Order: sequence, then structure tokens, then C-alpha cells
Amino acid sequence: MYQIPLPEKYETMDSDAAIRQIRTRKEQIGSTLVILGHHYQRDEIIQFADFTGDSLKLSQIAAQQKEAEYIVFCGVHFMAESADILTSAKQKVILPDLTAGCSMADMAEIDQVEECWHYLEKQISGPNQLIPVTYVNSSAAIKAFCGRRSGMCCTSSNCRAIFEAVWQANPQAKILFLPDEHLGRNTAYRMGIPLEQMALWDPFEPGGGIPAGSFSRKRVILWKGYCSVHQEFTVEQIQKARAAEPQVKVIVHPECCFEVAQAADFVGSTDTIIKTIRAAEPGSSWVVGTEINLVNRLAGEMAAKNVKVRSLSGTACLCETMYRINLPHLCWVLDQIAEHIENPAQVPLVNRIVVEETIKKDARLALQRMLDITAAAQAVKPA
Ligand code: 13P
Ligand code: SF4
Repeated sequence: MYQIPLPEKYETMDSDAAIRQIRTRKEQIGSTLVILGHHYQRDEIIQFADFTGDSLKLSQIAAQQKEAEYIVFCGVHFMAESADILTSAKQKVILPDLTAGCSMADMAEIDQVEECWHYLEKQISGPNQLIPVTYVNSSAAIKAFCGRRSGMCCTSSNCRAIFEAVWQANPQAKILFLPDEHLGRNTAYRMGIPLEQMALWDPFEPGGGIPAGSFSRKRVILWKGYCSVHQEFTVEQIQKARAAEPQVKVIVHPECCFEVAQAADFVGSTDTIIKTIRAAEPGSSWVVGTEINLVNRLAGEMAAKNVKVRSLSGTACLCETMYRINLPHLCWVLDQIAEHIENPAQVPLVNRIVVEETIKKDARLALQRMLDITAAAQAVKPA
């Protein structure tokens, strides 16, 4: 996405000046402003977040915001789109840097998904209804596609509950899972679906590269997409960590590949990783397979409790797009919001994320189904 260049004064602004200005603007704008921060954001941004969370929690919080007129989303593009879909027309969602995208979300284009669906519909029929489920790390158009076809969204926190809900409604249903093959495979396998009952759809191969006669035996069709950050973690890194420290515990995000998830002691979303490590025994030692900003923050927090935390990888596994949101960008959008409030006719809002109305309606269906299923699952089994 095109981002207009940051005005010169922000490019050269030092951190202390930006921090002072952000504080002033937050106070000035007051309760009509809410800042949301994903766990992978830099510390300098997290300090200003009114709410922090994983992608599930942040979408729940966005949906609950009834007062705030300006929602500044410090995360990536698909998260800001979800917030726009879940909030009312008078609320404005702002992404401080429009180039903060997600490489995984970009791996499934709506035209490719339509083509895949068209093909699969001819292969699968009758009681074996095909249900599309998309990880929220996807475009609004793909969420709308799922919404229109009795499908829904999921996050890394609730993927299992969503699969359970699909199969409870129709035990013979087949799931088309977009766009992260690893989250889909790791979740289905942990629910007892053998690997032979999963197929991998490659959008660049005719027929997805799946033998045409094999669909009757498949329960999950996985889209060939992945996270470029989480694919950096390897089984060798786990072996090395255990060889150096036999008692070490390994926890990884479900976007890691199957072999890494199988080799780890624990697998969970960013929220689960935080909760598990916060509950760790003093004296214990952890290696974590997820984004480096979160790992470093946890390491700092847990050092006081004598819990050792470090990255599973020797190299910094950084979500470079999340990292694009920094103090100058946050300062700039807050300045613009404050000036827009004072003079709406002269100062337009910058970096507003607006999902087209026709897409929004169906995408909201997919997100709302996810939120409803999650609420029902949490009522039975508190997270
Ligand atoms: P969470 O669902 O754990 O927030 O993860 C989102 C994400 O993009 C991780 O790469
Ligand atoms: Fe996307 Fe991976 Fe970054 Fe998450 S960590 S936002 S999946 S690129």
C-alpha cells in the first residue's frame, strides 16, 4: 500500500521530543482516542497502548469500543481492517504506517481463492459440505468470501474451537483453511486428524497440485501460505537448546512448521505464550519461537522473577512490517487527528483504513461468527 512520505520534521524528531508530543496529544484528544498495540510492537509503542493483546483480544476490544471515535491500531493492515469491520460507521480506524502489511496475508489473493473454490466445489459435494475458514491474517475480501459461504474467521487462539464448531454442525464437512498451512495443520493434527487426511493447495499449480481423485479422503485442505518470521524456527534449534540446557522448556507459536510444533513442549498463540511464561516456576528456563519484540519484553519482565527467557533462534526473528510503526509515525497520526478535530474542513485524516461497504457486511459475518463461537467456548472452558 502506498504511504505518503512522513513530513521532514518527524523524520528528524528525536525520541524524547516524540514521546513528549505523543503524551500531550493523548491528553488533548482524550477519551475519543484509543490506541491498540499488538504484542509484537516495539516497547516504545507499547508504552502508549491503552490495550495490548494478540489478534483475538484486539479484535474483541475493537468490537467493544462504542465511545472512541479514533482508533489508532498499532499492528498490521489486516488487524486495522478487522477493527474497521467491527466498529460503527462513525468510528475511524487509523494505521500509523500503511506499509505495515503481513506477508502471509498477501499469499492468498481473492481471485486465487475464488478459482480454488470453483474447482473444489466440482470435486466435493453432497453431505461433505465445504466450509471456508480463514485465519484473520487475510484480506477483508477473503473474510467476506468466507462470510458469504457459511464460513468464518479464526485466530491462533481459537482455531481449534472454530474447527470443533464446524465439525459439530456437520461431522462430514471439509474445511478449506486459508492462508496459513501451518496453523491449519498443527491445529487439525492436535485434534486427531491424521496428516493423510489433509491436502495442501498450491495456488500456482493446476488443481492446486492435489490428485483429483483424492478429495474424498481429505478433511482439511490447507492453503500453501506461511509466515516468513515463524518459518525461521527449526528443529535443529530446539535440539541445540536442549543439548545446552536439558531442563529448558520450548514454547512456539502455531505458525511454526509441523516438525517444530511437534518437537516443542508447548504450542500457543502470543497470548498463551505470555500466560504460560508468566506462570512459570522461578528458576526455570525457556526458549520461545515467536517474534523478537515479544520475547525480549518477556525476558525483561521475567528476569525479576528469576525465570530465564530467550529466543529459540540465534538471529533476531523480527516482523519487519510491524516494526515499521515507530514513534515518529505514531506522533504524526496523533498530530493529524488533533488538527483534524480542531479544523475538520482543512485537515483531512491521514492513514484511515476504510473497508468497502459491500465487503464489510459479509466480512463482519465471518468475524462475528468467530467472536460468537469463541465467547461460547470460553463460557464453557475459561481461557
Ligand atoms: P496472534 O494471533 O498470536 O496475535 O498472532 C498474530 C500474528 O500475526 C502472529 O504472527
Ligand atoms: Fe504476518 Fe508473520 Fe508478521 Fe504475523 S509475524 S504479522 S503472520 S508476517
